[in-house]
Amino acid sequence: MERISGWVTNTISHIVGDENTFSSLLGVSSHTYQIYTHCVNTSVLGLLFGKHLSFKEDELARIGSGMLLHDIGKLAIPLNVVNKPGHLTGEEFTAMKKHPKAGLEILEHRSSVNVLSLEIVIQHHENYDGSGYPYGIKGEEIHLFGRIARIIDVYDAMTSKRTCAEAMRPFAVLAEMKNNMPGCFGEKLLREFIYFLGPKDPRRKRRSADTLYSFPSVK
Ligand SMILES: [Fe+2]
Ligand SMILES: [Fe+2]
Repeated sequence: MERISGWVTNTISHIVGDENTFSSLLGVSSHTYQIYTHCVNTSVLGLLFGKHLSFKEDELARIGSGMLLHDIGKLAIPLNVVNKPGHLTGEEFTAMKKHPKAGLEILEHRSSVNVLSLEIVIQHHENYDGSGYPYGIKGEEIHLFGRIARIIDVYDAMTSKRTCAEAMRPFAVLAEMKNNMPGCFGEKLLREFIYFLGPKDPRRKRRSADTLYSFPSVK
């Protein structure tokens, strides 16, 4: 946990202090095979997207740590299910769906993990239309961090080579997310993510999470 918070703090100071680092980290954070690198990728993407949304430093730390830890519950799922090539059976998928709660159980006794980071761990498979898991909550019932995590998790998984599928090009993934997965993500937030990954118009104003989205307090 100490190493994680050190990594996040270092990453934040690099990102916030240096625009070149900002763009090169975005380039580095793509294809991978392992859960570990998936978690690192999603953490970096979360930090960059958070910076794009003008999150404050403590919010960036929460999102960076949360993304780094979001799939830690997969440690509790049998390896033959986690690493299975091809599609999962119904039974295997039921086992896999336990990983958000398992992750929360692993982490919630550790006082160093902030509650906002835990929101990412428990909510990163919740869909905007309520069709996700583990709770099937929907819309703004899902914390902003959970909604961001859902988008980044899917984006990184589909742009990476997985046990069940080849890596897809970023543009094709964004098209797939926008056109064929309409219920998974809030439309406004997905649009913002697509804008964030695209070429920038320097005349456009910086984004602000305060004006674009409500930032609900944690219950
Ligand atoms: Fe997951
Ligand atoms: Fe994931």
